[in-house]
Amino acid sequence: DEPPASTAVPQSGDPALLLLHRIEAADPASLDDYRAHNGYTALRRAFTLGPAGVIREVTDAGLVGRGGAAFPTGRKWQATASQPDHPHYLVCNADESEPGTFKDRVIMEGDPYSLVEAMTIAAYAIGAHKGYLYLRGEYPRALERMEHAIGQARARGLLGDDILGQGYAFDIEIRRGAGAYICGEETALFNSIEGYRGEPRSKPPFPVEKGLFGKPTAENNVETLVNVLPILTIGAEAYAAIGTGKSTGPKLFCVSGSVDRPGIYELPFGATLGELLDLAGVRKQLRAVLLGGAAGGFVRPDELDIPLTFEGTREAGTTLGSGVVMAFDDTVPLPRLLLRIAEFFRDESCGQCVPCRVGTVRQEEALHRIAERTGPDAAGDIALLREVGRAMRDASICGLGQTAWNAVESAIDRLGAYE
Ligand code: NAI
Ligand code: SF4
Repeated sequence: DEPPASTAVPQSGDPALLLLHRIEAADPASLDDYRAHNGYTALRRAFTLGPAGVIREVTDAGLVGRGGAAFPTGRKWQATASQPDHPHYLVCNADESEPGTFKDRVIMEGDPYSLVEAMTIAAYAIGAHKGYLYLRGEYPRALERMEHAIGQARARGLLGDDILGQGYAFDIEIRRGAGAYICGEETALFNSIEGYRGEPRSKPPFPVEKGLFGKPTAENNVETLVNVLPILTIGAEAYAAIGTGKSTGPKLFCVSGSVDRPGIYELPFGATLGELLDLAGVRKQLRAVLLGGAAGGFVRPDELDIPLTFEGTREAGTTLGSGVVMAFDDTVPLPRLLLRIAEFFRDESCGQCVPCRVGTVRQEEALHRIAERTGPDAAGDIALLREVGRAMRDASICGLGQTAWNAVESAIDRLGAYE
């Protein structure tokens, strides 16, 4: 039986939503329509608060990064703003490439002016006059919409030398990614903008001190930035009252797989995994849910009471990551799925450090032997996977190698994938 047609943004346009309320309700090509839907209210408030006041609001709101790592945004901005070295840069990481993640795409295609406004506020807060939008190369419509929005904002004095007559100068340059997952890692992204190979740098020093072109840089994900708009319009206190004490505000969840209504869902932090899947409609007998994408982990169908918060998923021994929720029914062959994930990491490893370059190859080989039953000893291969996984986690330079074993480990330990 045919599943019902899916909608990309099932809840879009609802005025009660803080992040998706303009999607499909306002014309993404029209600056006037954006303004008619509360656009540029937040920037006006930012100018009345001043840079330190904006950082205070964002800190009091409890905003943490939505790219996956949940680092406190106010702390990042404060650390960048306070650096004596200049210039300061703002970089928006729009290279979303985590398998199953498509929330930033929906914002950029459906509400591009919100990102222009949010980047302007962030830059103002950290004392930057130049911002880069590093946009995933496979998002041509997002590119077109963002280029148009930036051009219109510039033409109307909302970017440029004297924004809203406040004497503040800021402009945005778009750089396109070229298809490498690793360029979403923040320091590989800097190298890519600077014209070098997209290889991660060792941290510390953190970008807040030495980032793009060696200068203090705040790099934020698209969803993180657009959260600043409701923080400034409804106020930090009201924003912090949404969600839980440690995960405040709304979150965009990217639901896909064996569900009737895949798409982006905006929910307050704290809803359970089961509640979200009820909205999306699980189609068949659920076998597993992948949380946080390929870098995340699987959970079982009897774990749907996990609260969708950073702390709740951590306590449950998994991760929320960038908000990926991929449902798999019992017709999906897990060994093939794990092999596909392993192929992905082997393909996307930049090859700079040995644990990841070699480990991702060994991991794929072992999974291949198990899936195809060509090895002499599946238990031995699982032991090898554990050893290789530990080495990748402990000794890799960046998050790619450190997380390349997460999904496989959780499938073995939580799902009993090979029993
Ligand atoms: P991280 O924890 O190393 O850093 C997070 C952010 O906090 C970075 O901007 C970092 O510079 C900053 N930071 C950390 N400690 C700091 C300090 N002491 N001082 C100043 N700044 C500090 O995590 P990373 O490697 O940046 O991101 C990993 C996450 O990315 C994973 O959770 C994964 O789920 C997610 N991810 C998301 C993708 C997507 O498409 N959205 C793709 C791949 C991974
Ligand atoms: Fe490159 Fe992998 Fe090392 Fe990251 S962990 S620097 S992707 S080789």
